[in-house]
Amino acid sequence: MSSHWYAVYANTESRCLVPRFPREPYRHEPPTARLILKDHLMLSEKVQLTKEKETMLITLYGRALQSRSKHPILRDTWAEEAVQRVDYDFAKLKVGWRAALLFACRATQLDLWTTSFLAEHPDATVLHLGCGLDSRVYRIAPPPTVRWFDLDYPEVIALRRHLYSERAGYSMIGSSLADLSWLDEVPGDRPAMIVAEGVTMYLTEEIMQALLQALTNHFPSGQLAFDVHTPQLVRWLTKSGATVRGTGATFGWGIDNPADIKRLEPRLELISELKAHNLAAYARLPWSMHLLVRAMETIPALRVMRCLLYRFQRS
Ligand SMILES: C[S@@+](CC[C@H](N)C(=O)[O-])C[C@H]1O[C@@H](n2cnc3c(N)ncnc32)[C@H](O)[C@@H]1O
Repeated sequence: MSSHWYAVYANTESRCLVPRFPREPYRHEPPTARLILKDHLMLSEKVQLTKEKETMLITLYGRALQSRSKHPILRDTWAEEAVQRVDYDFAKLKVGWRAALLFACRATQLDLWTTSFLAEHPDATVLHLGCGLDSRVYRIAPPPTVRWFDLDYPEVIALRRHLYSERAGYSMIGSSLADLSWLDEVPGDRPAMIVAEGVTMYLTEEIMQALLQALTNHFPSGQLAFDVHTPQLVRWLTKSGATVRGTGATFGWGIDNPADIKRLEPRLELISELKAHNLAAYARLPWSMHLLVRAMETIPALRVMRCLLYRFQRS
């Protein structure tokens, strides 16, 4: 484990490992930051993805933007480099510093849960579903005893292979989550940490149910961590005819009460529900963001970045 940037951190979990944050208060991104990134573009990888596949560029850009700030919550040099290497008009996504901060908080929380699981299970399998161009495997740098699988659509994985290097114990799988035959490539003999960031809202309830049943059947035990939207937000986007930042992507699934997941898969037991203001790095946000987040959390359709952690046991 890369101990140089991880520290033992006592927060909502006991003895969890999270990125070591500098002590100074966060100073937000200057408005020219996006231009600085664009100045360094080396137009080498042509990106032609649409709908939910294109949404990975929103989170990628947000992490890059945030990583380049003076005191980043999450240092993601892989995102910074990937943004420089792809030929894509990131400005059209209109990702501002506020969204970038929230993406960093969410990613940090999911890194923390994953790292914590791996500390307990150093020979675990990690399944990172809808990985996009996320650098989680490099940020966490698990020991080679961990089997780590990053999964996304074949087009996304093809681009990912261009941008990111192989490492011991690490594999990429190109498949839709709707076609569960990809699970045949993943040995089911170890406890599993399953992570899906910014993904579940793009699935339908039918796909979600089939996925949860297959995963909890495949592994002897494990944990599942993901962020989720409310059904109100899913309905609002559907009714309005809008799409996610103009990508054409729409939402298909959300839950309000985390216990409702039992309707889809009764083996899932809730460990933790964290709203945006409970996320590990939330204290690093400027006060104006605290006000905004608290106000948004009072309106179900605006409740975003809610992260859920479940455990499961096969029988
Ligand atoms: C908002 S992006 C998040 C990407 C990445 N997790 C991150 O945080 O940067 C959503 C990702 O989910 C993937 N995705 C959505 N639906 C999928 C499906 N049915 N099968 C495989 N991947 C899917 C998309 O291709 C995209 O990479």
